Amino acid sequence: MATTLSSEYTSNDAANEENYCPSCYITHSNFQFCGYQLKVAQILGSNLGVSAYVWDAGIALCRYFEKRNIIFSGKKVLELGSGTGIVGILATLLGGDVTMTDRPKVLKQIEKNILVNVPAACRHRLQVCTLIWGENHVDFPTDYDFILGSDVVYSSVTYPALAETLRYLARQGTTIYLSSELRKRNGSVSFHEEHLPQYFNCQVVDRLDNKDITIYEMTKIDTSPGDCVPRNDRNQCVAEPDTGIKPAALPSPH
Ligand SMILES: C[S@@+](CC[C@H](N)C(=O)[O-])C[C@H]1O[C@@H](n2cnc3c(N)ncnc32)[C@H](O)[C@@H]1O
Repeated sequence: MATTLSSEYTSNDAANEENYCPSCYITHSNFQFCGYQLKVAQILGSNLGVSAYVWDAGIALCRYFEKRNIIFSGKKVLELGSGTGIVGILATLLGGDVTMTDRPKVLKQIEKNILVNVPAACRHRLQVCTLIWGENHVDFPTDYDFILGSDVVYSSVTYPALAETLRYLARQGTTIYLSSELRKRNGSVSFHEEHLPQYFNCQVVDRLDNKDITIYEMTKIDTSPGDCVPRNDRNQCVAEPDTGIKPAALPSPH
């Protein structure tokens, strides 16, 4: 599928009046998914690092929800590594009871985007929390219908902790969507093809060849007594791509 994922950048604003660092600035990106217009702020020049950007894998997951007409009404949804919050915000607009999570320093950016994009009447279905993989997942319930993660498979250092968190939080019946840009040298292919399939039924449900982005749908392998299938043999994965890491767009300050 050939798709351009870039957004339209509308404005850059100084961010220091909102208590970010003096050299910070905010750029806004416009997106349209499932009939909703999203205006997503990215706080640049701060210490947010990769969290400051809307990543192509996040845009791809939003497009996937649109393409498959996925509705989250009445469903409990957890998002890992929300970043700007684009995916979790769309899941909320599509009816979900959503918990968006990331590292503590990222939460303010997520909350800023929620205020702009989620009507007040829907915000009771949404919460924003610190969830650091491998550390505090035990503070969360394990009854989610969906767990979402876009571009959370990007640094091999974090893979064991991410897998541990996914294994803890998912129950039988949880559908996990991971949208990953399969980058060279970060081990993302083997994480998806070899590690996760030991614990999850993994299926490729969409692929954007021009971006090396793959969307995986995963469910927990049933290890209850009587289940004699130790791992998923139906896993379909893709050849290793050759792109380097880069966000969906790299705006520059005015
Ligand atoms: C590449 S960004 C993707 C952001 C967003 N999901 C998107 O697609 O635009 C990866 C996100 O994962 C978060 N992250 C990385 N390591 C983490 C960890 N150990 N625990 C929790 N979040 C983590 C980062 O803070 C960042 O927001």
